[in-house]
Amino acid sequence: MGEGIGDYTKNIVDLRRHMWGAGVEVELRRLIWQIAVVGKYISAKIHEANRKQAGFKNIYGEEQLSLDRGADDILKNQLQFSGFVRQYASEEQDDIIKIGSGSEKYIVTADPLDGSSLVDTNLAIGTIIGIHKESVFDTGKKTMAAALYITYGPLITMVYSAGCGAHEFVLNREGEYVLAQENIRLKEKGSIFSPGGLRRDWVPQHLKFIENLEKEGYKLRYSGGFVPDINQVLIKKGGLFTYPALQKSPNGKLRLLFELQPMAFIMEQAGGRATDGRKDIMTIKVEKLDQCSPIYIGSSTEVQMAEQFLS
Ligand code: F6P
Repeated sequence: MGEGIGDYTKNIVDLRRHMWGAGVEVELRRLIWQIAVVGKYISAKIHEANRKQAGFKNIYGEEQLSLDRGADDILKNQLQFSGFVRQYASEEQDDIIKIGSGSEKYIVTADPLDGSSLVDTNLAIGTIIGIHKESVFDTGKKTMAAALYITYGPLITMVYSAGCGAHEFVLNREGEYVLAQENIRLKEKGSIFSPGGLRRDWVPQHLKFIENLEKEGYKLRYSGGFVPDINQVLIKKGGLFTYPALQKSPNGKLRLLFELQPMAFIMEQAGGRATDGRKDIMTIKVEKLDQCSPIYIGSSTEVQMAEQFLS
C-alpha cells in the first residue's frame, strides 16, 4: 500500500486522526472534515475555470463571477445535508440562509472564494470559514467554536483551529489532508509586513506606522489575496497584515464576520493578535452581515506598535 488513504503503518497523521487526537468534539470534527472535503471540489472548479479561461482573457469577468457563485453553491449544498449546520451566512448571499432541520448545532459563515479576482494571475486564493455555536450577531469571542481557511496555491493547504491551537495540513496526491505543522506558534516579533489599500488613501497615523515599519527594516510582502497574505504571516511565524481605515472608508474594506473574525480566531490560537487599532477584533459585536473593520493582525510586537501609533 502506498503513502495514502488509510495507510497508518507509516507515520501519517491525517485531519480526522488529528482532530480525534486533539479531542475536538465529534460533531465539530465531522463538520470540519466535510468542509475540508468541499475545498477539494472548489479547487477542481478553479482548475476548470482556469483551463476554460486560458487564451480567452476577455471572458474572464463572467468566469470570475460564476466561480464565486459556484464555490458558494458547492458549500451551501454540502452543508445543507451535513447534519450539523442550521444556518449558513456567506459573502455571496444577502441574508443568512436556514438550512438543515433547524435543530443542528452550528452556524457556518463563509467567504467561499476570497481573492477570486487573482485567479487569472495564477496567484493563490482561498476559502475562509467560521463555525459558530450562537447567533453571529454577537462577538466572535462568545460564539465562535472553530475557524479554518484553505489556500489554493501550488499546493492546497488547510489551517484549522477548534480552540486548541492552530494546525496546518497539506492535501496530498491521494486526496488526503496530511498534518504539516501542529500547534503553529508565532514569534513575538516578525520581519515582514503586508499592507492593503492605496498609500495615498491611508490616514496619517497609519502612514506613520507603516513608515516606522519600513524604517525598522520590515520587508514588504503583499500579494493582494487576504488568505495567502495571512497564511504567509502564520507560516513564517511572524509579521503583520493590515487593511486599514481609509480616508473615505473609515471601516476599511475587509468584512468582520466572513474574513476578519475567523482569521483573528486562528491567529490568536497561534499566539498572535488581531485588533482594529484599538479593540480586539474578536470582541467587536457584529451588527450587520457586511460590516467592515480595519485590521492589524499578526505577531504581538507589530500589533502593539500599530496600537501605539493609532491611539
Ligand atoms: O476581500 C477581497 C480582497 O481581494 C482580499 O483578499 C484582499 O486582501 C483585498 O481584497 C485586497 O484589496 P485591495 O486590492 O484593495 O488591496
